[in-house]
Amino acid sequence: MDMRIALVPGDGIGPDIVREAVRTLDKVASVYGHSISYKEIDAGGISIDKYKVPLTEDALESAKASDAVLLGAVGGPKWDHVPGNLRPEKALLGLRSGLGLFCNLRPAVIYPELSSASPLKPEVISGGVDLLVVRELTGGIYFGEKGRSEDGKSAYDVMRYSADEIKRIARKAFEAARIRHNHVTVVDKANVLETSRLWRETVSEIAGEYSDVALDFMYVDNASMQLVRDPRHFDVLLTENMFGDILSDEASMITGSIGMLASASLRDDSFGMYEPIHGSAPDIAGQNIANPIATILSAAMMLRYSFSLEKEAKAIEDAVASALSDGVRTKDIASSNAEYVGTEECGSEIIRRIK
Ligand code: IPM
Ligand code: MG
Repeated sequence: MDMRIALVPGDGIGPDIVREAVRTLDKVASVYGHSISYKEIDAGGISIDKYKVPLTEDALESAKASDAVLLGAVGGPKWDHVPGNLRPEKALLGLRSGLGLFCNLRPAVIYPELSSASPLKPEVISGGVDLLVVRELTGGIYFGEKGRSEDGKSAYDVMRYSADEIKRIARKAFEAARIRHNHVTVVDKANVLETSRLWRETVSEIAGEYSDVALDFMYVDNASMQLVRDPRHFDVLLTENMFGDILSDEASMITGSIGMLASASLRDDSFGMYEPIHGSAPDIAGQNIANPIATILSAAMMLRYSFSLEKEAKAIEDAVASALSDGVRTKDIASSNAEYVGTEECGSEIIRRIK
């Protein structure tokens, strides 16, 4: 297969970790006989420095012209002073909405070898935690009208959803549940928000088409509590954009290893954007310290969702699992006083294990 991949290394540790994911993809391509061409795109702080905007039209167009996008991370304190609409994060939002990526999948799994890294008590996570946050990504308060009054003393952000936007993401959640544990929990604030009431109505409406999937609803405040009280209750959490942002950080912390978690942002065709859940960690950028695993696993998700290369995706995931069980650790997941490897060596240990 020929794959055209757009690389968006971005800022901070972005280039360090994307480099390792590319080496991993190249190894997979050579073992399984595929060819990959890459095109590098500037987005985020680096684009602000070069072009004064976080995402240029050209950058968006080259992303559109690819089959899939692999992104590192954007942002950093260097750009904290720039006005809101020009911040590096705007690049991410611009890519998501410009590419129509309404469906964000954020799996949180506890690797048995790393279960001691979870801040939760062993009895709460025994038997493993494996949940998937399905976050609506191109609507809601992130993209609603926003503004200030003339005197600047009041401000607003509008949260708006249409039934169609809810339906298409709900279908993705039900479909995901079908190949997992057949359970969807809709997280909302239906006791207060009208948008949430529309979510409940709309999801209930299409639930009939997925009668093999159990459906329940939970208020977001309660869900954030249940996530740490009994994370095993959850299989698929389906939620709107901002709740999904917050809950996916919480879910990732349960695993204790945010440096390991990948994500996919999808639409209805095979195109997708793949990125680690963690941020740009500017304090350790360029020092060969960052954990490349989340980005490497994002590349595996890319092979699975955008190219339907299940065997190849699995080969990467198995290589990661095998490296971990052989004790390969970057600094963030090493126990104190234990030895650890750098970004590049971690990449090499994984690449070596790809069969
Ligand atoms: C995320 C991030 C982004 C978001 C920021 C950087 C705009 O927190 O991907 O979760 O809020 O969506
Ligand atoms: Mg976030």
